[in-house]
Amino acid sequence: MVLNFAHRGSLTEAPENTLPAFQKAIEHGTKAMELDVQLTKDNRLIVCHDHKLTRFNKSATGLIKDYTLDEIKQIDVGASFNQEFEGTTISTLEEVLEICPKSILLNIEIKNIPVLYEGIEKILLQKLAEYNRLENIIISSFDHLALKKVQEINPTLPLGMLFHYRILNTWDYAKMSGLNIYSIHPNHVFVDQDFIRNCQNQGYKVYPYTVNTLDRYEELVKFDVDGVFSNTPDIFTSK
Ligand code: G3P
Ligand code: CA
Repeated sequence: MVLNFAHRGSLTEAPENTLPAFQKAIEHGTKAMELDVQLTKDNRLIVCHDHKLTRFNKSATGLIKDYTLDEIKQIDVGASFNQEFEGTTISTLEEVLEICPKSILLNIEIKNIPVLYEGIEKILLQKLAEYNRLENIIISSFDHLALKKVQEINPTLPLGMLFHYRILNTWDYAKMSGLNIYSIHPNHVFVDQDFIRNCQNQGYKVYPYTVNTLDRYEELVKFDVDGVFSNTPDIFTSK
């Protein structure tokens, strides 16, 4: 079975990584969703991809790590997408956990490069425990040291290893890392059938990102991909 992830919610229909975007993905009946987490100055987990909010609001020029949650909640990130979303703010992880059914596989990506969030792993796992959301979840990161810290705190959580660039024998690297890797999340541009087979032969699922055209999606399905991250509702809802 192919299991596709709504990438940052349904980001073509609402501002990415916000509650309306996750709500849309849920309404589409997505089986899985991806989101990015970072820490505010007062160590609150917020859901955002970029380290700054400038892409969504030109006057918000600071780094997320330098705003408190109260300050971040004053910043409109919806109007630049569409006036309909004026007043939408960055969501906290708690807000997303409150609306995300437990039946949806949730992939939480720790954004830890180039800004490094000391202690984000512990704060994240505490929050997930508080919300009873340690099941049906994958914790991923491009920062494999963050994955190691997650494993040290909770050795049972499935980990997703993200790769932006090609490295030699990714599947062997994952195996040698000693981490509890459940899935490999490669940039789709370098994924072919051999890559998928090699990863799967080592016992890993392969979830490439971000696959937005039906042609490429169908090609990956022919290669027996386990699922993809996608911005396209037709893809992230396809079975
Ligand atoms: O987790 C898959 C994908 O989201 C990783 O890349 O840059 O979109 O966070 P990025
Ligand atoms: Ca991401």
